[in-house]
Amino acid sequence: MKCHPGGETHTRRMLALAALSPGASVLDLGAGAGESVRLLRELGFMARGLDIEPRSPLVETGDLLCAPFPDESFDAVLSQCAFFVSGDVPGALREAKRLLKSGGRLLLSDVEFTPLRPLAEAAGFTILHDEDMTALWREYYLEALWRDEDACRCELPRRKCCYRMLIAERR
Ligand SMILES: C[S@@+](CC[C@H](N)C(=O)[O-])C[C@H]1O[C@@H](n2cnc3c(N)ncnc32)[C@H](O)[C@@H]1O
Repeated sequence: MKCHPGGETHTRRMLALAALSPGASVLDLGAGAGESVRLLRELGFMARGLDIEPRSPLVETGDLLCAPFPDESFDAVLSQCAFFVSGDVPGALREAKRLLKSGGRLLLSDVEFTPLRPLAEAAGFTILHDEDMTALWREYYLEALWRDEDACRCELPRRKCCYRMLIAERR
């Protein structure tokens, strides 16, 4: 079961766009069932995952809005479909910045009700890649509805939204 649009293919694409080298330390915020943590480790990254309700022993328990790691601990922070459901996107971006080393990379894909790019810039990131993935997300969401996969869906406000991928560098 994939819990973000594009599944593993999308995760691999984010890693390629971020130009991360194997051996880099990566934290997955809102890691869920740990699918991306598993993939990252297979690819040679030092990956950890954090989730408020982990669904795998690969993932540690914790709140992404106040993660239990010191400042500047990671070369990269990945988050797929989790910042919005945390209820505080600007707070999640600030926490991602705190956790990253200078020059570290943020690999973010999420639903977008308020434009993510200016929020990320205000939190201290320089955007390296910005992509609208709304068409892929719609396809994914309909498939999840069809298969009745509750774990992959979340309650969204009844407002028009998009789905966006950002690759950014911590200033
Ligand atoms: C749609 S799932 C995505 C899971 C995973 N990133 C993936 O793509 O397979 C959203 C995840 O965010 C987690 N989450 C929501 N709020 C959180 C918070 N404040 N701190 C940590 N995790 C949170 C949920 O428990 C859930 O596992």
